[in-house]
Amino acid sequence: MSFRFPDADELVLDNVSLTIPHHQTTAFVGSSGAGKSTLLDLTLGLLDPTSGEVLCGGRSIGEDLAAWHATLGVVPQDVYLIDHTLAENIAFGAQTDMIDYERVREVVRLAMLEELVAQLPDGLGTLVGDRGVRISGGQRQRVGLARALYRNPRVLILDEATSALDNATEYEIAQTLNGLQGTMTIVIVAHRLSTVRSVDRLHYLRKGRVAASGTFEEVRAADAEFARLVELGSLD
Ligand SMILES: Nc1ncnc2c1ncn2[C@@H]1O[C@H](COP(=O)(O)OP(=O)(O)O)[C@@H](O)[C@H]1O
Ligand SMILES: [Mg+2]
Repeated sequence: MSFRFPDADELVLDNVSLTIPHHQTTAFVGSSGAGKSTLLDLTLGLLDPTSGEVLCGGRSIGEDLAAWHATLGVVPQDVYLIDHTLAENIAFGAQTDMIDYERVREVVRLAMLEELVAQLPDGLGTLVGDRGVRISGGQRQRVGLARALYRNPRVLILDEATSALDNATEYEIAQTLNGLQGTMTIVIVAHRLSTVRSVDRLHYLRKGRVAASGTFEEVRAADAEFARLVELGSLD
């Protein structure tokens, strides 16, 4: 498929054709402006391709966007917290008396939030958000991950969702994603290359095109620019 923004001259995505395999972890990497977020937005159905289409199981996702969205868990770069308890923030959208606390505790564990919960004055019942207890950017992103997992998604999508994490926490989240690998379809755009080292399939985007695809090591061997970024340890 290809995509250009209305009124723009240049294609943001130029003839991108790829498959996101079921129950595998797929990563998109590339420098800023390469088209990663646009590709995710097309995958989410938030944007429509200028040509081509996004298929799931052979059917265009546009045929039933609501059904498609119901299968997704999305962790955005900026996680929004509501002025409610931590449990309500995780079980986002559920009525307070309908919260499945067993599930909340499960995703708290998966998102490495147990330590935070133990430190909070009222645990899961602690008010967070603007008028509640301050929590760090990294903790906020982990709440976003817990929230996405609470929905038991078939497809988990993370767009630079680990950018605000310190190295240690980012490593822990990478471990979490490694643990989930194989149990659900995961699509990740990550800033730090360490996060995507063990994904099943990596697509290196350059100026709206897929420059190379394969495992981390395969892409490293195939693309000199990617190899250089690996040497430098960063995409910037
Ligand atoms: N709403 C928009 N309108 C026009 N151009 C846009 C818009 N959003 C992004 N772009 C352009 O599309 C290109 C790809 O952006 P993006 O997908 O956000 O890249 P990445 O996520 O890899 O940093 C960039 O050149 C950016 O300037
Ligand atoms: Mg982006």
